[in-house]
Amino acid sequence: MKILILGSGGREHAIAWRLSRDSSSSKVLVWPGNDGMSGPKLGLVDRPFDRATFSSLIAEEGIDLVVPGAEKFLYQGVADWCQGLGVPCFGPGARAASLERSKLFAKTLMQEAGVPTSPFRDLSDAMARGLDAVNGVLKEFRKPVIKISGPSLGKGVFVCESAAEASEVLLKLGQSPQPGMEDGVLVEEGVSGKEVSMFFACSHGAFTYLGSAQDHKRVFDADQGPNTGGMGAIAPVPWATGEFIRDIGDRFVRPTLDLMLKRGTPFKGVLFLGLMVGPEGTNLLEYNVRFGDPETQVILPLLEGDLSDFLRRFSTQDVTPELTIRSAAAVHVVKAARGYPGVFGAPIEAGQLITLRQSESASGKLFFAGVKRTPQGLVTNGGRVLGFTAWAPTAAEAIRDCYALLPSGEFEGEHFRRDIGRSL
Ligand SMILES: Nc1ncnc2c1ncn2[C@@H]1O[C@H](COP(=O)(O)OP(=O)(O)O)[C@@H](O)[C@H]1O
Ligand SMILES: [Mg+2]
Repeated sequence: MKILILGSGGREHAIAWRLSRDSSSSKVLVWPGNDGMSGPKLGLVDRPFDRATFSSLIAEEGIDLVVPGAEKFLYQGVADWCQGLGVPCFGPGARAASLERSKLFAKTLMQEAGVPTSPFRDLSDAMARGLDAVNGVLKEFRKPVIKISGPSLGKGVFVCESAAEASEVLLKLGQSPQPGMEDGVLVEEGVSGKEVSMFFACSHGAFTYLGSAQDHKRVFDADQGPNTGGMGAIAPVPWATGEFIRDIGDRFVRPTLDLMLKRGTPFKGVLFLGLMVGPEGTNLLEYNVRFGDPETQVILPLLEGDLSDFLRRFSTQDVTPELTIRSAAAVHVVKAARGYPGVFGAPIEAGQLITLRQSESASGKLFFAGVKRTPQGLVTNGGRVLGFTAWAPTAAEAIRDCYALLPSGEFEGEHFRRDIGRSL
């Protein structure tokens, strides 16, 4: 089977690496991929990405399965294009991708489906009417969380301690509109507890659990500093087991899939739930509609069996083969470039030569993200540059083994967290 993966980061490298290990895959193409991705079955597609070129490539290469990595491809309608072409795609159509693209859409659906989530109000009208109207709505919330509804590059959520603080946030947003606000702004009640990401493969009504993970969004140790795309992750979350997984399936995944099916926009692909578990019970913070980066780098190494075959059959509603999750732990640490995450327009350094030693072992793997090939060698070319994953029988061993891998890829100005996996 020939597989096409869409995207260019560490997540896509991990998907490509994992699928190329299956006996059912003969070729794995990544579009556009990055210069660090290589392997016996691996290839990159160096063409501009548009619908016509996509259709030609699918036909020319005889692609049997498309796996979109980044959500932007889903918003563009790649899964709908695939449906038109008759090629299986492990991802939702553009309408079903609204579960992630629009937080207002998602919250409304959660409410209608009876999925546990904190109360919310759409603020768009009140914001148009003025500050008094906004403050009137905010009064209903004890710990208001302001959320930009549309895609906002991970910068659209403001957890506030009071209505006054939320009012100030909204005043600023009103003065300088941010990406994603064209879809509206909402306020929801803050909830407390521990966060966990849960991953499910879904196709029409069916779903299969893929694993749990915890990511680390802040740039510095002990969750200090600005948010990033993710500085590391660990899987599984030890308390997310048997009963808990069943409950998430029953009260969160099942009603979501049923309602999407009923609305005529069945959901296919990865449903990635961002959950908060605490004194207020288990609440859904958000849906994502694809694999996470860097969660994928710890989820996929723990999946046993022929994942390529599983994804293709699952996407086509064929008999679903067994997929087992190894009882082991995986840890992923990201090395980022000097300046990352580049707050207030600060530059992120690029062009540093990367020194590489062994990049793969029986229980570890180096994934490439922001890198570029030059005549001098591989150089840094982005914020998150390298990602190291190790897996082992226990979390403590996986943490130790992962940090031991770090010298296998180094560059001037690199920085990484030293506490990944230690806050479970
Ligand atoms: N209702 C809430 N209560 C408390 N914290 C929240 C709430 N909603 C979001 N958060 C915090 O903000 C983070 C980002 O919110 P999320 O909805 O996942 O948006 P995104 O990932 O698109 O930025 C969450 O991981 C969580 O830490
Ligand atoms: Mg999130």
